[in-house]
Amino acid sequence: MNHTAIYPGSFDPLTNGHLDILKRGVQMFDKVIVTVAVNNKKKAVFTGQERVELIKEAIKGKDWADKVEVEQFTGLLIDYARKKEVNVLLRGVRQISDFEYEFRMALTNRRLAPEIDTLFLMPDEQLTFISATIVKEVAEWNGDLSSFVPDHVAKALREKYGH
Ligand code: PNS
Repeated sequence: MNHTAIYPGSFDPLTNGHLDILKRGVQMFDKVIVTVAVNNKKKAVFTGQERVELIKEAIKGKDWADKVEVEQFTGLLIDYARKKEVNVLLRGVRQISDFEYEFRMALTNRRLAPEIDTLFLMPDEQLTFISATIVKEVAEWNGDLSSFVPDHVAKALREKYGH
């Protein structure tokens, strides 16, 4: 069976945690479409296009890179998934505190589109505390980002925060 999943998120910016989930996704599916949400309420540091480019750069050279597509989307995720004819959404869950939000989102999506399921994956335990929010806070104060994000993302963050 040729099966595709969508891995949606803000990716502002991509972290090593996101990359870990993506790698797990491509091991399970023939293709994973990483979709960068550009319309959600969180005020983003990077533009949609910048976030797409950072993700593309991160997967360049990986032996699974050709299984990944990266796109921006606006609107409802389920409308995007239906347009792509994809019925699996991948989400990473790091800890129990993520679960409430994820559960609400997954069930809302299911109510709107019963044929679409959300599949939760756990990242490597060493990455469970990493979030784009925490990474931006460290970047703002010019902290060492090397264990949180790929090098090119660290560089982009330093530039954004004027370091
Ligand atoms: O990385 P994030 O910010 O946790 O990702 C959240 C995202 C983008 C997956 C979610 O906000 C989303 O799907 N936004 C699109 C609008 C939508 O479909 N909302 C209904 C789901 S509750």
